[in-house]
Amino acid sequence: MAMTTLGILGSGFGSNMQAILDAIDAGALDARIGIVLSDHPDAHILERAELKGIRAEVINCSGHLMKFPEAAQEETARKLTEAGVDLVCLAGFMRIVKRPLLDAFPSRILNIHPSLLPAFPGLEAWRQALEAGVSESGVTVHLVDAGMDTGPILGQERVAVLPDDTPETLHFRLQAAEHRLYPEVIARYAATLTP
Ligand code: GRF
Repeated sequence: MAMTTLGILGSGFGSNMQAILDAIDAGALDARIGIVLSDHPDAHILERAELKGIRAEVINCSGHLMKFPEAAQEETARKLTEAGVDLVCLAGFMRIVKRPLLDAFPSRILNIHPSLLPAFPGLEAWRQALEAGVSESGVTVHLVDAGMDTGPILGQERVAVLPDDTPETLHFRLQAAEHRLYPEVIARYAATLTP
């Protein structure tokens, strides 16, 4: 596929979206971001997107804190389709995607997770790694299925856990790895897509 249109779903800061934009600017990723959607109206990712002139909108989850209601998933699928999105990238999106969004983008939703999956799925994977006492963790990009951080793995980068690491220092190095790996895997995966 020539130029891929990405749709980004995020709940937070948007540093992975920024890494994707940086890769596009550097010519390492032949893509554009068509739309950014967030379940949090005050998420920094929306502000960052707007500053870059990218369409940025809120997904209304009807007051649910964790659930991604079916109507909200349908609305998300509609907005992504309207924006001409080829590939959806979850970047710190904190809700579990299920049908009907998965059905609208089969094998076209990616996620980045701060562990070497299948180890440490779920929240605060860097803290889980420290508590387990492992000497190595890392980051994973995978295709999204209906599970939590399951789905076929597309790429991983290893990160050493240092003896004096705190949750914060480990999280910081994991994020740096995320910012390298995510754009690289997106570029590789997008090249395999047919229009
Ligand atoms: C990342 O560390 C990602 O692994 C996790 O949420 C964080 C999002 O950060 N799922 P950002 O919004 O991309 O800065």
